[in-house]
Amino acid sequence: MSTGPALGPGLRAGLGAAPEVAELRAALETLDALVAVRVEERRGGLDGRRLSIDGDGEGLPPVERFAGIGPFAELVSGAGLSAAEAVIVLAAVATYVDERFAVRLGALTDRPSVGGLTGEVARTLVARSFQGRLDATVLLSPQGRLRAQGLLTLDPPGDLSGQLRPDPALVAWLLGLPPETPTASADFPARPLTTVHTLADVVLPAAARTRVDDLAARITHRDMVVDDWGFGAHHDNATGLIALFHGPPGTGKTMTAAALAASAGLPAYLVDLSALVSKYIGETEKSLAKVFDRAARERCVLVFDEADAVFGSRTEVGDAHDRYANQEVSYLLSRVEQHPGIVILTSNLLANIDNAFQRRIHVMVEFPEPGPPERERLWAAVAPPSLPMDPEIDLHGIARHYPLTGAQIRDATLDAAYLAAANGRVVTTEHLLDGIRRQFEKAGRTVPR
Ligand SMILES: Nc1ncnc2c1ncn2[C@@H]1O[C@H](COP(=O)(O)OP(=O)(O)O)[C@@H](O)[C@H]1O
Ligand SMILES: [Mg+2]
Repeated sequence: MSTGPALGPGLRAGLGAAPEVAELRAALETLDALVAVRVEERRGGLDGRRLSIDGDGEGLPPVERFAGIGPFAELVSGAGLSAAEAVIVLAAVATYVDERFAVRLGALTDRPSVGGLTGEVARTLVARSFQGRLDATVLLSPQGRLRAQGLLTLDPPGDLSGQLRPDPALVAWLLGLPPETPTASADFPARPLTTVHTLADVVLPAAARTRVDDLAARITHRDMVVDDWGFGAHHDNATGLIALFHGPPGTGKTMTAAALAASAGLPAYLVDLSALVSKYIGETEKSLAKVFDRAARERCVLVFDEADAVFGSRTEVGDAHDRYANQEVSYLLSRVEQHPGIVILTSNLLANIDNAFQRRIHVMVEFPEPGPPERERLWAAVAPPSLPMDPEIDLHGIARHYPLTGAQIRDATLDAAYLAAANGRVVTTEHLLDGIRRQFEKAGRTVPR
């Protein structure tokens, strides 16, 4: 009996002609054919077809069938998925995008009330022989990469008769849809880093400016050099790029990281390093793995702000807690090094960064305290154009006289604006000097006379 393609016009009409969808459709058609074969095999029982026990011939399509240029191919080659793993991910996605697959897959189980893709159905889908079914059982365990990397979840977790569900972010990405915005949690210790600023808003002395512009060019041209010109395939880890921004607080390191990503049109995640302080080491690694995997898939820039805490010299092994922390730090370092995307670390003190790790950094940019010329540009830059300011204010003199960072200049201007709002409606020299004084007091420094 022909089972025919279960998919077709519906998916075609509903999801349009995006290349991602075309790729997924072709992959789903392959899956559909495999399901048809498995249904036939079950129908024939064991009479017509001897149960193979040599581990050969699981009847899977070769993994090359999923090679190509779309996101699914990228997932398969990037994560190095086997044919069985690729088929299971595909089946989970299939039930998500078309419930008819859930019904068809239900024919692969003897448990009549259970539909959808259970762990058991997935096992039957990818394996005929005892060896194949044993391999599939390991593959579907919590240690198997599909679940360890959070691509799939099993619900309930301890039971292969539970449902296998795809990560919704993975489905969105495979369909070429914008990802849902994650919120930082212990489960996903990162949040989107967005900014209203562009690189043009960053005020830097010439040396730092040149390095930031070089880095921006490198990020922009990365796809061409790595993918089109083949450096990615020709070298080990030519695709990763680790940058370190170091310098005193308030000099624009985080702002520049966010503006760099935005200028390249890439999303950025700010990784929450405080989440690393976890007693449950396995959990931390798992949640970090999710961040790295998702960043690799979505080509996000990963920003580790104030990285000193973890990328600094490692603590002597002391109590059990330190040992956990060290193990997590080692995991983090190796993931950063192997990450195929862009990682930006910021640090207030270069000397705090572990020497061995410094050698792994491709681009270092020093963000110095701004000198008088930069401060004058900062005073002009941080005030919005519609802020009413007394034209008599001598920004040149103020910039020369008060050694403040960009962040302090912004805060002083904001304070002055509030003073003006309550008092005269125009920012005067007095308001600014008041705002400046507060910045010095906040930093515990005496105001220069
Ligand atoms: N070099 C700079 N150029 C322009 N604005 C700056 C600069 N440095 C700091 N600022 C202002 O101060 C804010 C805070 O700076 P931030 O990037 O958090 O500094 P850091 O990460 O070095 O501590 C920025 O969002 C920006 O408004
Ligand atoms: Mg910062």
